[in-house]
Amino acid sequence: MPIENPFQDPLRFERQVPECIVVIFGANGDLTKRKLLPALYRLAYDRRLSTGFAVVGISRTPMSDEQFRQKMQEAVQQFSEDTQFDEDVWKAFAGGLSYVAGDIADPQLYRRLAAKLKEIEDSRRTGGNVMFYLSTQPSQYAPIAQGLGGAGLGKGGGWRRLVVEKPFGHDLESARELSDRLHESFDESSVYRIDHYLGKETVQNILAFRFGNGIFEPLWNRRYVNHVQITGAESIGVEDRATYYQEAGALDDMIQNHLLQVMATIAMEPSASFRANSVRDERSKLLRSIRAMTPEEILRNAVPGQYGPASIGGKALPGFRQEKGVDPQSQTNTYAAVTFFVENWRWAGVPFYVRTGKRLPKRVTEIAIQFNPAPLTIFDEDDGDRSPNLLIVRIQPDEGISLKFLSKRPGAGMNLRPVSMDFNYGSSFGERSPSAYETLLLDAIIGDATLYTRQDMVEASWSVIEPIQNVWRATHFDFPNYAAGTWGPAAADEMLARRGHAWRRP
Ligand code: BG6
Repeated sequence: MPIENPFQDPLRFERQVPECIVVIFGANGDLTKRKLLPALYRLAYDRRLSTGFAVVGISRTPMSDEQFRQKMQEAVQQFSEDTQFDEDVWKAFAGGLSYVAGDIADPQLYRRLAAKLKEIEDSRRTGGNVMFYLSTQPSQYAPIAQGLGGAGLGKGGGWRRLVVEKPFGHDLESARELSDRLHESFDESSVYRIDHYLGKETVQNILAFRFGNGIFEPLWNRRYVNHVQITGAESIGVEDRATYYQEAGALDDMIQNHLLQVMATIAMEPSASFRANSVRDERSKLLRSIRAMTPEEILRNAVPGQYGPASIGGKALPGFRQEKGVDPQSQTNTYAAVTFFVENWRWAGVPFYVRTGKRLPKRVTEIAIQFNPAPLTIFDEDDGDRSPNLLIVRIQPDEGISLKFLSKRPGAGMNLRPVSMDFNYGSSFGERSPSAYETLLLDAIIGDATLYTRQDMVEASWSVIEPIQNVWRATHFDFPNYAAGTWGPAAADEMLARRGHAWRRP
Protein backbone atom coordinates (compact mmCIF):
# COMPACT_ATOMS: atom_id res chain seq x y z
CA MET A 1 0.00 0.00 0.00
CA PRO A 2 1.56 3.35 -0.93
CA ILE A 3 1.77 5.78 1.99
CA GLU A 4 -0.84 8.45 1.58
CA ASN A 5 0.88 11.77 1.22
CA PRO A 6 -1.24 14.84 1.83
CA PHE A 7 1.55 17.01 0.40
CA GLN A 8 2.18 15.33 -2.91
CA ASP A 9 0.01 14.49 -5.84
CA PRO A 10 2.11 12.31 -8.16
CA LEU A 11 -0.43 12.50 -10.95
CA ARG A 12 0.00 16.22 -11.33
CA PHE A 13 3.75 16.60 -11.06
CA GLU A 14 6.39 14.62 -12.79
CA ARG A 15 9.35 15.42 -10.54
CA GLN A 16 9.55 13.35 -7.36
CA VAL A 17 10.20 15.51 -4.34
CA PRO A 18 12.51 13.90 -1.78
CA GLU A 19 11.93 13.93 1.96
CA CYS A 20 13.85 16.69 3.69
CA ILE A 21 14.13 19.23 6.47
CA VAL A 22 14.57 22.92 5.63
CA VAL A 23 16.45 24.86 8.29
CA ILE A 24 15.95 28.62 8.03
CA PHE A 25 18.50 30.87 9.71
CA GLY A 26 16.92 34.30 10.16
CA ALA A 27 13.48 32.80 10.80
CA ASN A 28 12.25 35.93 12.48
CA GLY A 29 13.25 38.14 9.55
CA ASP A 30 11.36 39.82 6.77
CA LEU A 31 12.30 37.45 3.95
CA THR A 32 11.08 34.43 5.93
CA LYS A 33 7.73 36.04 6.58
CA ARG A 34 7.17 37.68 3.23
CA LYS A 35 8.61 35.12 0.84
CA LEU A 36 9.90 31.83 2.24
CA LEU A 37 7.00 30.67 4.39
CA PRO A 38 4.30 31.77 1.92
CA ALA A 39 6.22 29.92 -0.83
CA LEU A 40 6.59 26.73 1.25
CA TYR A 41 2.96 26.90 2.30
CA ARG A 42 1.93 27.26 -1.36
CA LEU A 43 4.01 24.21 -2.27
CA ALA A 44 2.19 22.30 0.47
CA TYR A 45 -1.14 23.64 -0.79
CA ASP A 46 -0.27 22.39 -4.29
CA ARG A 47 0.69 18.96 -2.84
CA ARG A 48 4.26 19.37 -3.99
CA LEU A 49 6.12 18.52 -0.77
CA SER A 50 7.04 15.16 0.69
CA THR A 51 5.09 13.51 3.53
CA GLY A 52 7.64 14.12 6.27
CA PHE A 53 8.62 17.60 5.10
CA ALA A 54 9.72 19.75 8.05
CA VAL A 55 10.99 23.25 8.70
CA VAL A 56 13.21 24.32 11.57
CA GLY A 57 13.34 28.06 12.18
CA ILE A 58 16.37 29.58 13.85
CA SER A 59 16.91 33.04 15.25
CA ARG A 60 17.94 34.74 18.47
CA THR A 61 14.45 35.55 19.76
CA PRO A 62 13.31 32.99 22.35
CA MET A 63 10.10 31.33 21.13
CA SER A 64 8.35 28.01 21.60
CA ASP A 65 7.48 25.80 18.62
CA GLU A 66 3.87 26.82 19.12
CA GLN A 67 4.69 30.54 19.10
CA PHE A 68 6.76 30.07 15.96
CA ARG A 69 3.88 28.26 14.25
CA GLN A 70 1.53 31.03 15.23
CA LYS A 71 3.88 33.68 13.84
CA MET A 72 4.33 31.79 10.60
CA GLN A 73 0.59 31.31 10.25
CA GLU A 74 0.12 35.07 10.52
CA ALA A 75 2.86 35.61 7.92
CA VAL A 76 1.28 33.12 5.52
CA GLN A 77 -2.14 34.70 5.97
CA GLN A 78 -0.78 38.18 5.45
CA PHE A 79 1.66 37.60 2.59
CA SER A 80 0.16 34.79 0.50
CA GLU A 81 -1.18 37.15 -2.11
CA ASP A 82 -2.99 34.72 -4.36
CA THR A 83 -3.35 31.62 -2.20
CA GLN A 84 -6.32 30.88 -0.09
CA PHE A 85 -5.62 29.90 3.52
CA ASP A 86 -6.74 26.31 3.95
CA GLU A 87 -7.00 25.17 7.59
CA ASP A 88 -6.38 21.50 6.80
CA VAL A 89 -3.32 22.13 4.64
CA TRP A 90 -1.98 24.50 7.27
CA LYS A 91 -2.50 21.99 10.08
CA ALA A 92 -0.62 19.28 8.21
CA PHE A 93 2.13 21.73 7.24
CA ALA A 94 2.42 23.32 10.69
CA GLY A 95 2.87 19.87 12.23
CA GLY A 96 6.34 19.89 10.65
CA LEU A 97 7.34 23.35 11.92
CA SER A 98 9.65 23.75 14.88
CA TYR A 99 12.00 26.32 16.26
CA VAL A 100 15.44 26.56 17.85
CA ALA A 101 16.57 29.82 19.47
CA GLY A 102 20.21 30.74 19.69
CA ASP A 103 23.11 32.90 18.75
CA ILE A 104 24.90 31.88 15.59
CA ALA A 105 28.25 32.53 17.26
CA ASP A 106 27.47 30.00 20.00
CA PRO A 107 28.60 26.41 19.26
CA GLN A 108 25.80 25.22 21.57
CA LEU A 109 23.26 26.34 18.98
CA TYR A 110 24.60 23.86 16.43
CA ARG A 111 24.56 21.06 18.97
CA ARG A 112 20.95 21.80 19.81
CA LEU A 113 20.17 21.95 16.11
CA ALA A 114 21.87 18.60 15.53
CA ALA A 115 19.73 17.04 18.27
CA LYS A 116 16.59 18.59 16.78
CA LEU A 117 17.45 17.31 13.30
CA LYS A 118 18.01 13.82 14.64
CA GLU A 119 14.68 13.90 16.45
CA ILE A 120 12.82 15.03 13.30
CA GLU A 121 14.70 12.57 11.12
CA ASP A 122 13.54 9.73 13.37
CA SER A 123 9.96 10.86 13.78
CA ARG A 124 9.29 12.11 10.24
CA ARG A 125 11.68 9.82 8.32
CA THR A 126 13.38 12.59 6.40
CA GLY A 127 16.30 10.34 5.49
CA GLY A 128 19.07 12.70 6.61
CA ASN A 129 18.34 15.24 3.85
CA VAL A 130 18.76 18.80 5.07
CA MET A 131 18.70 22.14 3.30
CA PHE A 132 20.11 25.06 5.27
CA TYR A 133 18.72 28.39 4.12
CA LEU A 134 20.68 31.50 5.10
CA SER A 135 18.32 34.41 5.30
CA THR A 136 20.44 36.49 7.66
CA GLN A 137 22.82 39.44 7.45
CA PRO A 138 25.49 38.55 4.86
CA SER A 139 28.21 38.92 7.50
CA GLN A 140 26.72 35.85 9.20
CA TYR A 141 26.93 33.50 6.19
CA ALA A 142 30.49 32.35 6.79
CA PRO A 143 30.16 31.95 10.58
CA ILE A 144 26.96 29.89 10.13
CA ALA A 145 28.58 27.64 7.52
CA GLN A 146 31.52 27.22 9.85
CA GLY A 147 29.24 26.49 12.83
CA LEU A 148 27.39 23.85 10.81
CA GLY A 149 30.64 22.32 9.60
CA GLY A 150 32.07 22.35 13.13
CA ALA A 151 29.08 20.41 14.44
CA GLY A 152 29.43 17.89 11.63
CA LEU A 153 26.19 19.07 10.01
CA GLY A 154 27.76 19.78 6.61
CA LYS A 155 27.57 16.05 5.96
CA GLY A 156 25.07 13.43 6.96
CA GLY A 157 23.16 10.30 6.05
CA GLY A 158 21.39 12.05 3.16
CA TRP A 159 22.25 15.15 1.17
CA ARG A 160 23.13 18.54 2.67
CA ARG A 161 22.59 21.81 0.78
CA LEU A 162 23.32 25.39 1.69
CA VAL A 163 21.13 28.07 0.12
CA VAL A 164 22.59 31.57 0.28
CA GLU A 165 20.82 34.84 -0.42
CA LYS A 166 22.58 37.71 -2.17
CA PRO A 167 24.80 39.70 -1.81
CA PHE A 168 27.59 37.23 -2.50
CA GLY A 169 30.37 39.51 -1.34
CA HIS A 170 30.62 43.20 -2.13
CA ASP A 171 33.43 42.96 -4.67
CA LEU A 172 35.53 40.30 -6.36
CA GLU A 173 37.85 39.64 -3.46
CA SER A 174 35.15 39.43 -0.80
CA ALA A 175 33.08 37.15 -3.06
CA ARG A 176 36.05 34.79 -3.38
CA GLU A 177 36.72 34.91 0.32
CA LEU A 178 33.09 34.11 1.12
CA SER A 179 33.13 31.15 -1.23
CA ASP A 180 36.34 29.84 0.26
CA ARG A 181 34.80 29.98 3.71
CA LEU A 182 31.59 28.28 2.60
CA HIS A 183 33.62 25.61 0.83
CA GLU A 184 35.31 24.66 4.11
CA SER A 185 32.04 23.00 5.12
CA PHE A 186 30.05 22.61 1.85
CA ASP A 187 31.44 21.79 -1.56
CA GLU A 188 30.44 23.98 -4.51
CA SER A 189 27.86 21.49 -5.77
CA SER A 190 26.01 21.82 -2.43
CA VAL A 191 26.03 25.62 -2.40
CA TYR A 192 22.90 27.13 -3.97
CA ARG A 193 23.25 30.90 -4.49
CA ILE A 194 19.82 32.28 -4.99
CA ASP A 195 19.07 35.02 -7.51
CA HIS A 196 15.31 35.29 -7.39
CA TYR A 197 15.17 36.87 -10.86
CA LEU A 198 16.21 33.56 -12.39
CA GLY A 199 13.20 31.95 -10.72
CA LYS A 200 10.72 34.32 -12.33
CA GLU A 201 8.58 32.52 -14.91
CA THR A 202 9.19 35.28 -17.44
CA VAL A 203 12.96 35.03 -17.13
CA GLN A 204 12.79 31.25 -17.57
CA ASN A 205 10.54 31.82 -20.56
CA ILE A 206 13.33 33.71 -22.32
CA LEU A 207 15.02 30.33 -22.77
CA ALA A 208 11.81 28.73 -24.04
CA PHE A 209 11.25 31.65 -26.41
CA ARG A 210 14.80 31.63 -27.76
CA PHE A 211 15.55 27.92 -27.89
CA GLY A 212 12.11 26.36 -28.28
CA ASN A 213 11.35 28.28 -31.46
CA GLY A 214 13.18 28.31 -34.75
CA ILE A 215 12.23 31.76 -35.99
CA PHE A 216 13.91 34.13 -33.56
CA GLU A 217 17.38 32.70 -33.17
CA PRO A 218 18.54 33.57 -36.73
CA LEU A 219 17.85 37.25 -35.94
CA TRP A 220 19.47 37.14 -32.53
CA ASN A 221 22.83 38.68 -33.34
CA ARG A 222 24.77 41.77 -34.36
CA ARG A 223 23.57 41.65 -37.99
CA TYR A 224 19.95 42.29 -37.04
CA VAL A 225 19.94 43.61 -33.48
CA ASN A 226 20.70 47.30 -33.20
CA HIS A 227 20.85 47.43 -29.42
CA VAL A 228 19.23 46.00 -26.29
CA GLN A 229 17.74 47.88 -23.35
CA ILE A 230 17.20 46.20 -20.00
CA THR A 231 15.18 48.18 -17.47
CA GLY A 232 14.57 47.24 -13.84
CA ALA A 233 12.56 50.21 -12.58
CA GLU A 234 11.04 50.46 -9.13
CA SER A 235 8.67 53.10 -7.82
CA ILE A 236 9.44 52.38 -4.17
CA GLY A 237 12.17 54.24 -2.34
CA VAL A 238 14.72 52.74 0.02
CA GLU A 239 11.99 51.85 2.58
CA ASP A 240 13.45 50.61 5.86
CA ARG A 241 16.63 49.16 4.36
CA ALA A 242 18.83 52.25 4.65
CA THR A 243 21.68 50.50 6.44
CA TYR A 244 22.09 47.83 3.78
CA TYR A 245 21.24 50.03 0.84
CA GLN A 246 23.65 52.84 1.70
CA GLU A 247 26.47 50.32 1.48
CA ALA A 248 25.19 48.58 -1.65
CA GLY A 249 23.55 51.13 -3.95
CA ALA A 250 21.64 50.34 -7.14
CA LEU A 251 24.64 49.05 -9.10
CA ASP A 252 25.45 46.33 -6.55
CA ASP A 253 21.88 45.71 -5.43
CA MET A 254 20.31 45.09 -8.85
CA ILE A 255 22.81 45.15 -11.74
CA GLN A 256 25.64 42.99 -10.39
CA ASN A 257 23.22 40.12 -9.87
CA HIS A 258 19.64 40.27 -11.21
CA LEU A 259 20.06 42.37 -14.33
CA LEU A 260 23.35 40.84 -15.44
CA GLN A 261 21.74 37.42 -15.06
CA VAL A 262 18.82 38.61 -17.18
CA MET A 263 21.28 39.95 -19.75
CA ALA A 264 23.14 36.62 -19.73
CA THR A 265 19.86 34.80 -20.35
CA ILE A 266 19.06 37.06 -23.30
CA ALA A 267 22.52 36.92 -24.82
CA MET A 268 23.93 33.46 -24.00
CA GLU A 269 24.58 30.80 -26.62
CA PRO A 270 22.18 27.85 -26.79
CA SER A 271 23.21 25.23 -24.28
CA ALA A 272 23.75 21.66 -25.38
CA SER A 273 21.02 20.44 -23.01
CA PHE A 274 18.84 21.78 -20.25
CA ARG A 275 20.98 20.18 -17.56
CA ALA A 276 22.09 22.48 -14.76
CA ASN A 277 25.73 22.75 -15.68
CA SER A 278 25.12 22.97 -19.39
CA VAL A 279 22.87 26.03 -18.95
CA ARG A 280 25.10 27.52 -16.28
CA ASP A 281 28.22 27.07 -18.41
CA GLU A 282 26.65 29.19 -21.15
CA ARG A 283 25.47 31.88 -18.75
CA SER A 284 28.88 31.97 -17.20
CA LYS A 285 30.60 32.17 -20.59
CA LEU A 286 28.45 35.13 -21.55
CA LEU A 287 29.18 36.93 -18.29
CA ARG A 288 32.87 36.39 -18.86
CA SER A 289 32.53 37.90 -22.35
CA ILE A 290 31.27 41.24 -21.06
CA ARG A 291 34.03 43.79 -21.44
CA ALA A 292 35.39 45.21 -18.18
CA MET A 293 35.78 48.92 -18.90
CA THR A 294 38.72 51.23 -18.34
CA PRO A 295 38.18 54.25 -16.05
CA GLU A 296 37.87 56.54 -19.11
CA GLU A 297 35.23 54.28 -20.67
CA ILE A 298 33.37 54.16 -17.37
CA LEU A 299 33.02 57.93 -17.29
CA ARG A 300 31.24 57.78 -20.65
CA ASN A 301 29.39 54.49 -20.26
CA ALA A 302 28.13 54.40 -16.69
CA VAL A 303 25.84 56.93 -15.01
CA PRO A 304 24.98 56.97 -11.32
CA GLY A 305 22.00 58.82 -9.89
CA GLN A 306 20.36 59.62 -6.62
CA TYR A 307 16.79 60.76 -6.14
CA GLY A 308 15.94 64.08 -4.61
CA PRO A 309 12.67 65.22 -3.04
CA ALA A 310 9.61 65.86 -5.17
CA SER A 311 5.96 66.54 -4.88
CA ILE A 312 3.74 64.28 -6.95
CA GLY A 313 0.02 64.89 -7.18
CA GLY A 314 0.19 66.97 -4.02
CA LYS A 315 2.07 64.21 -2.18
CA ALA A 316 5.54 65.08 -0.92
CA LEU A 317 8.17 62.39 -1.55
CA PRO A 318 11.42 62.60 0.38
CA GLY A 319 14.75 62.56 -1.35
CA PHE A 320 17.11 59.67 -0.58
CA ARG A 321 19.13 61.87 1.79
CA GLN A 322 15.97 62.64 3.73
CA GLU A 323 15.01 58.98 4.19
CA LYS A 324 15.17 57.46 7.67
CA GLY A 325 18.68 56.35 8.57
CA VAL A 326 20.37 57.85 5.49
CA ASP A 327 23.43 60.09 5.75
CA PRO A 328 22.38 63.62 4.63
CA GLN A 329 25.57 63.81 2.50
CA SER A 330 25.18 60.28 1.10
CA GLN A 331 26.94 59.50 -2.18
CA THR A 332 25.00 56.24 -2.62
CA ASN A 333 23.61 55.57 -6.11
CA THR A 334 19.89 54.84 -6.11
CA TYR A 335 19.97 54.76 -9.91
CA ALA A 336 22.54 53.24 -12.22
CA ALA A 337 22.71 53.00 -15.99
CA VAL A 338 25.53 51.18 -17.75
CA THR A 339 26.36 50.44 -21.37
CA PHE A 340 27.84 46.98 -21.61
CA PHE A 341 29.50 45.37 -24.62
CA VAL A 342 29.77 41.64 -25.13
CA GLU A 343 32.96 40.60 -26.80
CA ASN A 344 31.99 37.63 -28.88
CA TRP A 345 31.12 37.05 -32.54
CA ARG A 346 27.40 37.18 -31.92
CA TRP A 347 27.30 40.53 -30.16
CA ALA A 348 30.45 42.51 -30.99
CA GLY A 349 29.55 46.20 -31.25
CA VAL A 350 25.94 45.85 -29.99
CA PRO A 351 25.32 48.07 -26.93
CA PHE A 352 23.43 46.52 -24.02
CA TYR A 353 22.01 49.42 -22.04
CA VAL A 354 21.11 48.33 -18.53
CA ARG A 355 19.40 50.63 -16.03
CA THR A 356 17.75 50.37 -12.66
CA GLY A 357 16.55 52.80 -10.05
CA LYS A 358 14.43 53.44 -7.02
CA ARG A 359 11.64 56.03 -7.08
CA LEU A 360 11.22 55.93 -10.83
CA PRO A 361 7.73 56.62 -12.21
CA LYS A 362 6.61 53.00 -12.09
CA ARG A 363 7.57 49.43 -11.30
CA VAL A 364 8.46 47.69 -14.50
CA THR A 365 11.12 45.21 -15.57
CA GLU A 366 11.52 44.66 -19.27
CA ILE A 367 13.95 43.86 -22.01
CA ALA A 368 13.59 45.71 -25.30
CA ILE A 369 15.46 44.35 -28.28
CA GLN A 370 15.64 46.94 -31.02
CA PHE A 371 16.24 45.64 -34.53
CA ASN A 372 17.94 47.45 -37.38
CA PRO A 373 15.65 49.53 -39.58
CA ALA A 374 14.63 48.54 -43.09
CA PRO A 375 17.48 49.56 -45.42
CA LEU A 376 15.35 52.14 -47.26
CA THR A 377 11.76 53.25 -47.52
CA ILE A 378 9.82 52.82 -50.73
CA PHE A 379 6.62 54.40 -49.41
CA ASP A 380 6.91 57.95 -50.70
CA GLU A 381 3.66 59.21 -49.24
CA ASP A 382 4.48 57.93 -45.79
CA ASP A 383 4.55 60.79 -43.35
CA GLY A 384 7.64 59.54 -41.75
CA ASP A 385 6.85 57.33 -38.77
CA ARG A 386 10.02 55.34 -38.45
CA SER A 387 9.36 53.59 -35.15
CA PRO A 388 11.84 50.73 -34.96
CA ASN A 389 10.99 47.04 -34.78
CA LEU A 390 11.09 46.14 -31.15
CA LEU A 391 10.72 42.88 -29.32
CA ILE A 392 9.71 43.56 -25.76
CA VAL A 393 9.97 40.90 -23.10
CA ARG A 394 8.02 42.07 -20.13
CA ILE A 395 9.32 40.44 -16.97
CA GLN A 396 6.85 42.18 -14.62
CA PRO A 397 4.10 43.28 -14.20
CA ASP A 398 1.71 42.43 -17.12
CA GLU A 399 4.03 39.56 -17.98
CA GLY A 400 4.26 38.89 -21.68
CA ILE A 401 6.04 39.50 -24.96
CA SER A 402 5.20 41.99 -27.70
CA LEU A 403 6.54 42.62 -31.12
CA LYS A 404 6.22 46.12 -32.50
CA PHE A 405 6.22 46.65 -36.23
CA LEU A 406 4.94 49.11 -38.79
CA SER A 407 1.64 48.54 -40.48
CA LYS A 408 -0.40 50.31 -43.12
CA ARG A 409 -2.92 52.67 -41.68
CA PRO A 410 -6.38 52.01 -43.21
CA GLY A 411 -7.40 54.41 -45.96
CA ALA A 412 -5.99 55.87 -49.10
CA GLY A 413 -2.26 56.17 -49.52
CA MET A 414 0.53 54.37 -47.77
CA ASN A 415 0.86 55.71 -44.26
CA LEU A 416 2.65 53.53 -41.78
CA ARG A 417 1.92 53.32 -38.10
CA PRO A 418 3.50 51.22 -35.36
CA VAL A 419 1.32 48.36 -34.10
CA SER A 420 1.89 45.63 -31.60
CA MET A 421 1.49 41.85 -31.61
CA ASP A 422 1.06 40.75 -28.03
CA PHE A 423 1.37 37.62 -25.98
CA ASN A 424 0.10 37.94 -22.45
CA TYR A 425 0.76 35.29 -19.83
CA GLY A 426 -2.41 35.86 -17.85
CA SER A 427 -4.82 35.55 -20.75
CA SER A 428 -2.90 32.90 -22.73
CA PHE A 429 -2.54 30.36 -19.97
CA GLY A 430 -5.28 31.39 -17.59
CA GLU A 431 -3.42 29.77 -14.72
CA ARG A 432 -1.41 31.09 -11.87
CA SER A 433 2.38 31.35 -12.25
CA PRO A 434 4.36 30.13 -9.26
CA SER A 435 6.34 32.78 -7.41
CA ALA A 436 10.11 32.83 -7.93
CA TYR A 437 10.64 31.50 -4.42
CA GLU A 438 8.29 28.55 -4.96
CA THR A 439 10.22 27.58 -8.06
CA LEU A 440 13.63 28.04 -6.52
CA LEU A 441 12.89 26.36 -3.18
CA LEU A 442 11.44 23.34 -4.92
CA ASP A 443 14.40 23.18 -7.31
CA ALA A 444 16.84 23.23 -4.39
CA ILE A 445 14.90 20.49 -2.60
CA ILE A 446 14.96 18.38 -5.75
CA GLY A 447 18.63 19.19 -6.32
CA ASP A 448 18.20 21.07 -9.59
CA ALA A 449 20.70 23.94 -9.63
CA THR A 450 19.91 25.20 -13.16
CA LEU A 451 18.47 28.47 -11.90
CA TYR A 452 21.09 29.01 -9.21
CA THR A 453 24.19 31.14 -9.54
CA ARG A 454 27.54 29.42 -9.55
CA GLN A 455 30.68 30.91 -8.06
CA ASP A 456 32.31 31.49 -11.47
CA MET A 457 29.28 33.60 -12.51
CA VAL A 458 29.48 35.63 -9.33
CA GLU A 459 33.13 36.31 -9.98
CA ALA A 460 32.54 37.15 -13.64
CA SER A 461 29.90 39.73 -12.78
CA TRP A 462 31.99 41.31 -10.03
CA SER A 463 34.82 41.58 -12.55
CA VAL A 464 32.76 43.95 -14.69
CA ILE A 465 31.09 45.77 -11.79
CA GLU A 466 34.13 46.36 -9.62
CA PRO A 467 35.91 48.77 -12.01
CA ILE A 468 32.71 50.87 -12.06
CA GLN A 469 32.50 50.80 -8.27
CA ASN A 470 36.11 51.95 -8.08
CA VAL A 471 35.58 54.93 -10.37
CA TRP A 472 32.34 55.92 -8.66
CA ARG A 473 33.86 55.68 -5.19
CA ALA A 474 36.70 57.96 -6.23
CA THR A 475 34.33 60.58 -7.68
CA HIS A 476 32.28 63.15 -5.84
CA PHE A 477 28.84 63.40 -7.47
CA ASP A 478 26.58 66.35 -7.41
CA PHE A 479 23.64 64.41 -5.95
CA PRO A 480 20.66 64.44 -6.04
CA ASN A 481 20.50 64.45 -9.81
CA TYR A 482 16.96 63.24 -10.46
CA ALA A 483 13.70 64.06 -8.77
CA ALA A 484 11.72 61.23 -7.18
CA GLY A 485 9.10 60.03 -9.65
CA THR A 486 11.13 60.79 -12.79
CA TRP A 487 13.07 58.54 -15.17
CA GLY A 488 16.55 59.19 -13.78
CA PRO A 489 19.33 61.69 -14.48
CA ALA A 490 19.72 63.55 -17.77
CA ALA A 491 23.22 62.11 -18.10
CA ALA A 492 21.67 58.67 -18.66
CA ASP A 493 19.72 60.04 -21.64
CA GLU A 494 22.87 61.67 -22.97
CA MET A 495 24.73 58.37 -22.68
CA LEU A 496 22.33 56.83 -25.23
CA ALA A 497 21.97 59.97 -27.32
CA ARG A 498 25.71 59.86 -28.07
CA ARG A 499 25.07 56.65 -29.99
CA GLY A 500 21.89 57.98 -31.59
CA HIS A 501 19.63 56.01 -29.24
CA ALA A 502 17.01 56.89 -26.65
CA TRP A 503 15.57 55.05 -23.66
CA ARG A 504 12.16 53.57 -24.22
CA ARG A 505 9.43 54.81 -21.92
CA PRO A 506 8.00 51.51 -20.68
C1 BG6 B 1 16.15 42.72 -4.34
C2 BG6 B 1 16.76 44.05 -4.07
O1 BG6 B 1 17.14 41.75 -4.58
O2 BG6 B 1 15.29 42.81 -5.47
C3 BG6 B 1 15.68 45.09 -3.82
O3 BG6 B 1 17.61 43.97 -2.93
C4 BG6 B 1 14.70 45.10 -4.96
O4 BG6 B 1 16.24 46.38 -3.62
C5 BG6 B 1 14.21 43.70 -5.29
O5 BG6 B 1 13.61 45.93 -4.59
C6 BG6 B 1 13.39 43.70 -6.55
O6 BG6 B 1 12.79 42.45 -6.71
P1 BG6 B 1 11.42 42.30 -7.49
O7 BG6 B 1 11.20 40.83 -7.58
O8 BG6 B 1 10.38 43.02 -6.69
O9 BG6 B 1 11.63 42.96 -8.82
